[in-house]
Amino acid sequence: MSQSLDIIFQELDSVQTSFETEIQQIAEPDALETLRVKYLGRKGQVAQFFKKIGTLPGPDRPRFGERLNALKTSLQSSIDEAQSHFSRNNGESKDKLDLSLPGIAPSIGHRNALMLVLDEIKYIFRGMGFGVRTGRLIENEYYNFEALNVPDDHPSKDLQDTFYLENALLLRTHTSPVQIHTMENENPPIRIIAPGRCFRKDAPDATHSPEFHQVEGLAVGEGISLSHLKGTLVSFARKLFGEDTQVRFRPSFFPFTEPSAEMDVYFDDRLGWLEILGSGMVDPNVFEAVKIDPDKYTGFAFGMGVERIAMLKYQIDDIRHFYENDTRFLRQF
Ligand code: DAH
Repeated sequence: MSQSLDIIFQELDSVQTSFETEIQQIAEPDALETLRVKYLGRKGQVAQFFKKIGTLPGPDRPRFGERLNALKTSLQSSIDEAQSHFSRNNGESKDKLDLSLPGIAPSIGHRNALMLVLDEIKYIFRGMGFGVRTGRLIENEYYNFEALNVPDDHPSKDLQDTFYLENALLLRTHTSPVQIHTMENENPPIRIIAPGRCFRKDAPDATHSPEFHQVEGLAVGEGISLSHLKGTLVSFARKLFGEDTQVRFRPSFFPFTEPSAEMDVYFDDRLGWLEILGSGMVDPNVFEAVKIDPDKYTGFAFGMGVERIAMLKYQIDDIRHFYENDTRFLRQF
């Protein structure tokens, strides 16, 4: 090593030592900045040394450059560390905490439009004295079909239409099994709704989803008639869609009700009448399955698709929006 290089290396060592002593004494960010300028600034000590490269003999230059760069990196990382120490402690230091600054708003999410409509449906029926029952998503054939008077050759029992599991279990295709559980476990008078998920082997498109939601309803008691059914469902429709909503009933068929009717609501001249639910008087065969005396008690039942109602209420054109969790969609409700 040439003599001059040896001397310069000693000088570099003493720069490092004095830097380390000085940085120990620094207690606040401004002083740290002054220190940084003194050593690493454009005219600082390290920069002065870089100028000396030209004065050294050619063969010494690479070693000197290497050593000087190492010093620069080391000083810089000590400064960075001290800086992050100050910014970490900033929030804790009393005079630095500015309470007038706006906070960082946490993203707290949003209820899905489906759940909002479901809440509204529950609220309306609770107001008419209906309690809420939940059922199971996995049922057997008895609860999903047989006890509901669904014949063995009914198309909904087809492998194409129902998700069958092992051990003769299946994913319920409607919320109607909750009727059966409720009538097995409770005595009339009964007035319940049963909201929940259902499953059918449908290929997804704008109006079909293999997973969807229904609300089942059931009222059983002495002297319950078709006029109770109509009164209940008409006032439900008017509470949900508005007081002047026009409603009509069309005769229909369901295995678990006799007679049966579908209820339509008139939306506007473009949409016209749209079906929103199925309903009917509980079939005596269903009462027999749950050992309720059909000569003493009568009842009505109904079932509606929550997605369909939400789509009509909010003019949503594709059922898949509910499940895709695109926040641009979800935020609108
Ligand atoms: N379970 C029927 C379905 O999935 C809906 C339904 C219709 C339920 C009429 C009822 C009813 O309780 O009375 O399509």
